[in-house]
Amino acid sequence: MCGIVGYFGEKSAVPILVEGLRKLEYRGYDSSGIAVMEEGGIRITKSVGKLVNLEEKLGNRTYNARIGIGHTRWATHGRPSDVNAHPHMDCHGDFAVVHNGIIENYLELREWLTAEGHLFRSETDTEVLAHLVEHFYKGDLQDAVKKMLAKVEGSYAVVVLSYKNPDVMVAARKDSPLIVGIGDGEYFVASDIPAVLKYTRKTYIMEDGEMVTVSAEGLKFSDFTTGECVEKSVFEVTWDAVAAEKGGYEHFMLKEIFEQPKALRDTLAGRLNHDHVVLQEVDLTPKEVALFNKVAIVACGTAYHAGLIGKGLIEHWAKIPVEVDIASEFRYRAPLIDDKTLVVVISQSGETADTLAALRESKKKGARVIAITNVVGSSVAREAHDVIHTWAGPEIAVASTKAYTTQIEGMILLALYLTQAKGTMPKEWITEIISELGKIPDKAEIILKEGAERIKTLARYFEEVGSAFFIGRGLDWAVAQEGSLKLKEISYIHAEAYASGELKHGTLALITEDTPIIALATQRDLYEKTVSNVIEVKARDAKVIGFTFEGNTDFHKSVNEIFYIPETVNELAPLLTVIPLQLLSYYVSVARGNDVDKPRNLAKSVTVE
Ligand code: F6R
Repeated sequence: MCGIVGYFGEKSAVPILVEGLRKLEYRGYDSSGIAVMEEGGIRITKSVGKLVNLEEKLGNRTYNARIGIGHTRWATHGRPSDVNAHPHMDCHGDFAVVHNGIIENYLELREWLTAEGHLFRSETDTEVLAHLVEHFYKGDLQDAVKKMLAKVEGSYAVVVLSYKNPDVMVAARKDSPLIVGIGDGEYFVASDIPAVLKYTRKTYIMEDGEMVTVSAEGLKFSDFTTGECVEKSVFEVTWDAVAAEKGGYEHFMLKEIFEQPKALRDTLAGRLNHDHVVLQEVDLTPKEVALFNKVAIVACGTAYHAGLIGKGLIEHWAKIPVEVDIASEFRYRAPLIDDKTLVVVISQSGETADTLAALRESKKKGARVIAITNVVGSSVAREAHDVIHTWAGPEIAVASTKAYTTQIEGMILLALYLTQAKGTMPKEWITEIISELGKIPDKAEIILKEGAERIKTLARYFEEVGSAFFIGRGLDWAVAQEGSLKLKEISYIHAEAYASGELKHGTLALITEDTPIIALATQRDLYEKTVSNVIEVKARDAKVIGFTFEGNTDFHKSVNEIFYIPETVNELAPLLTVIPLQLLSYYVSVARGNDVDKPRNLAKSVTVE
C-alpha cells in the first residue's frame, strides 16, 4: 500500500511527480502529496482524498523545481487527513520523507525523539523517519539516511530530500518495492514501473537492504548495512506503455476483463507441447516430486480462490493431498509443513504481506516453495525457490480479473507438471487437456464478444437488492466464491457463495423473492444434483440466473435467465465461467454509480498484515 515517486533532473518536477502518482494510485488513494526543492527551501503540498484534490491545490502555477518526491497513501498509522498525508518533514523543514511500509518501533522512536526536543505534527509512523534523519545529519545526507535506517524496524521503501544537500536524493528499500528509472540526464524512483514508463524503459530493481544516492554525477547503489557499493544490471521493461492506460475503456476493470484472451494466451505461450507442459521455471525432478506427501497452497482474496481450483486439480490429477489456506491464517495455525511439503504461494502483486510471510515461514520449515505471481522482480518472485509468472500485464483496477484467470492457468500448468512427473494420468488424457487448454483464450473471446451485452441486461436484477447468493458444486463452488467477492467489492451488495448442497442446512432461510441467485452448473458429474438445488431455491420464489455449458439445453427450465458458456472439459470450466460473473459485477457497480476501479476502503496491494 502507498505509492512513492521521486524525480531528479532538468525538467519541472511537479508534473512528472503528479503523473507518476496517477500511475500509482492503485496502491492507495486516501491522500497524496509532493515535496519539491525550491530556491528558498522545500515546498510541500498535500491533500486528503484522491489525487485530483492535490492537483487542484497545485493549480496552474509554473513550478521551477527540478527535484522532488511524491506519495499516494493508504492509511495504516493515522487516519486519512492532510496532516497525515506524506511527505513528512523534520522540525525545521530541512528534510522531507516519503515512505511505503510500516515502522514497527515508531512509538519507541517517537518517545525518544520527543525527549530530544523534536516536535511531532502527525499521527503517522513515517514522521519519525524525517526527525531521525535530522537527528543524524552531519553534512552528508546518505550517511544520515544510513544511520536512520539502522534505528528502524519494519518495512520500508523510502525517499529522502534535504534542503541542506539540495543536489542529492537518497532512497532505500526493505520489504517494500522500489525501482529506479534512468532517463536522459534524469532519474526517477518509484514503487512500480508504470510510474516511470512514460519517460524510460531502463530501470534498476532495488533489492532489500539496498540504498541509492542520486546526484548530478549519477546513481550510487550501496548496501545500507555494510556501506559497500553494489553493482546492478539494468532491467529493460518490455511492456507497452499503453498497456498501463485505459485504452479506450471506461474503466480499467472493464479493459482488464477484455484483456483476458490475450493474458490467457500469453500465459500459455511456450508452455504447451502437444502431450506435455513445459515449465522451465520449475526445477523439480520426478524423484523430488514423488517425495512430496502434500501440497499447501497459500494466498489471499482472489488469489486464494485460484488456489481452491488448484486443490481440485492437483488432487484429482496428480493424486497428492492438498490444503488451501488464507495466508493471514496460515502462520497462526502452526501448519504441519516440512521438507516433504510443496508450498505454492499465489500473489498477483507479489508483495502481499501475509503471503510473503507464509512463504518465509514455509522456507524456514524446509518446504519447497513455488510462487505464482504476475510481477517480475516482486518480493514473492525473488524469494520463492521457483516462480511461475502469469503474463497478465499490469493490473490497475483494484478488483482482480485477468490476474485471477491467469493464476488459474498457472495452477493448471503446475497440476499438469506434477501429474506428468508422477505419471498418474494416461498420456492421451494429458494430450486432450492440453489441446482443450489451448482453445480457452478463443472461447474467452467469444464470451466477451457475444455475451457482454447480454450480461449488461442481467444487471437489472441487482438494482434494488441488498443481498445475493452464488451457488455451485465442486469447481463451480470455487468459482462462485470468486463471483461473490467480485460483486461485494465493487457493487457493495452483500453476497455469499454456497456449496449448493449445503443451502438446506440453514442458509435457505435467507432465500426470498428479493434474493437473486447466481447458479453455476458446469460440472457434468454434478449437474443433476445442482439442478435439484436450483429447483429448491426457485421454489422459494428466488430469481435465478443460471450459467452452464451450451449443451445443457434443459437448464433454462429451472431458472429465470440463462447464460451459456462455450463447452470445455469440466476442469477448465472455471477459466470461462468466471468471465460473465466479472462482467456482471462490473455492470452492477456501474449501474449503482460506484467508483468501479477504486472501491471504497480497498487498496490494490496489501503490504501490511
Ligand atoms: C480482489 C483482489 C484481492 C487480491 C488479494 C491478494 O479483487 O484483488 O482479493 O486478490 O488482495 O493480492 P495479491 O494477489 O496481489 O497477493
